[in-house]
Amino acid sequence: EAEQQVYKERIKRLLKEKNAVLVAHYYTDPVIQALAEETNGCVADSLEMARFGRDAKEQTLIVAGVKFMGETAKILSPEKTVLMPTLEATCSLDLGCPIDKFSAFCDEHPDHTVVVYANTSAAVKARADWVVTSSIALEIVEHLDSQGKKILWGPDRHLGAYIEKQTGAEMLMWQGACIVHDEFKARALASLKQQYPDAAILVHPESPANVVAMADAVGSTSQLIKAAQTLPNKRLIVATDKGIFYKMQQAAPGKIFLEAPTGGNGATCKSCAHCPWMAMNGLDAIEQALTDNSGHEIFVDEATRVKAMIPLNRMLDFAA
Ligand code: 13P
Ligand code: SF4
Repeated sequence: EAEQQVYKERIKRLLKEKNAVLVAHYYTDPVIQALAEETNGCVADSLEMARFGRDAKEQTLIVAGVKFMGETAKILSPEKTVLMPTLEATCSLDLGCPIDKFSAFCDEHPDHTVVVYANTSAAVKARADWVVTSSIALEIVEHLDSQGKKILWGPDRHLGAYIEKQTGAEMLMWQGACIVHDEFKARALASLKQQYPDAAILVHPESPANVVAMADAVGSTSQLIKAAQTLPNKRLIVATDKGIFYKMQQAAPGKIFLEAPTGGNGATCKSCAHCPWMAMNGLDAIEQALTDNSGHEIFVDEATRVKAMIPLNRMLDFAA
């Protein structure tokens, strides 16, 4: 605690000195989320992080999250310095969708509109017609489907299946998954629900279809926080990374939050529903990044950046 306080004070001073602002995702350590709040930074889902970074007046963005979030910030603000606590923080969706293979898949279907999830590399975004995040994917696919477009979707197969079900669109799909959400188990969730029949179930759509099917609310991290606030239930079972509880408790004080089970035996696993890459973001690493850029700065080559900016801006314009 005392040590954390020392780090926080030093980081606050560095943020001012370097004209920098902290942009954090809901899955990061609560101490980082609190610091972002205290310093007029932002704590948000991936769409809002992109928007906040783009509009920030500071010269430096320090992005606490995973690599694709830093890259998105850089693509939208090439004139800003974009730093990350660690460049090692990746995402299984990004890892599972290498540009050469994905591009070959797209080449096989030239008549398809390529829609990619934001959880991808800059190179994959550069190959896409549209980028979407979980908070706006449904609306964008609905829009494209209504125009009669054939859609190629990647990389998250669970989010893709959910969108297909909701919109009736048929999509050619890349078979990627999030290693965190893929672990939620429907059977164990059903027994937890039996134990607490009054509880509402909140699910991020990167979860398997049989888990999504049990949800009272499905949505991006921001949308789930909103649902925690607006649903009348006092008890909520949450199927997403546990970092989100920090904001959910703030948004819905007095409610009781339960982690959705990740094991097959009904036991709630205390550590499974936490993204190992999000967990790499620490106060020490933030201080390091602000003290010395080297090894912390995000670069995207200009040709890729210019191409990736087009589908990203399409999403932001659509969301506006
Ligand atoms: P959100 O856009 O809902 O914040 O999702 C990002 C993510 O990585 C979920 O696992
Ligand atoms: Fe990627 Fe899943 Fe981690 Fe989100 S929780 S960053 S989708 S691995």
